[in-house]
Amino acid sequence: TEQANLDYIRSSIKTIPNYPKEGIMFRDVTSLIEDGKAFAMSVNALAAQYKDKHITKVVGAEARGFIFGAAVANVLGAGFVLARKPNKLPRETVRQSYQLEYGEDELHIHKDALTADDHVLMIDDLIATGGTMEAAVKMVRSLGAKVEDAAFVISLPDLGGLAKLQALDVQAYSLVSFN
Ligand code: PRP
Ligand code: ADE
Repeated sequence: TEQANLDYIRSSIKTIPNYPKEGIMFRDVTSLIEDGKAFAMSVNALAAQYKDKHITKVVGAEARGFIFGAAVANVLGAGFVLARKPNKLPRETVRQSYQLEYGEDELHIHKDALTADDHVLMIDDLIATGGTMEAAVKMVRSLGAKVEDAAFVISLPDLGGLAKLQALDVQAYSLVSFN
């Protein structure tokens, strides 16, 4: 059943207490990816939500967003657009900076990767504060493309990211969540 799959996916995610610092319960998606059954179930469960939504492009953020985003795009028959850290993309880009726990970082997307005709699905492995996804949504919209949905393997609702997406009028979906 669907619930059994979600339970299996959840159990494949290892939790590392006190990483990267005291008091944090780190939800490690790499253990899920290392399990072929959990990885396939996750990709298929994410893609299934959007099968009939005419998604033309999936956008995913470096680095773990690439792993799930590219796989979901492939199932949907959509293109995959990389949101990358600075100085990695060779053509003209749009950029958006965002807050990290300490300091700030920046993501870029190729300007010619999206147009007003695109209907975009945002994918990442995990949403925490939502800063990464907010930056990515802003860039996609600045290129005129439409974003209605964002999907994650893991959400940490206590950290406020889902509320941030709601404020952006983005409908969020996640396979599992941890408080
Ligand atoms: C992690 C994760 C998400 C983001 C979520 O990536 O893969 O992209 O943080 O956090 P947020 O909701 O608070 O923005 P990270 O920035 O660690 O980059 P990496 O995948 O390259 O390690
Ligand atoms: N990013 C922010 N908080 C996290 C956590 N608890 N586990 C994994 N990634 C995170």
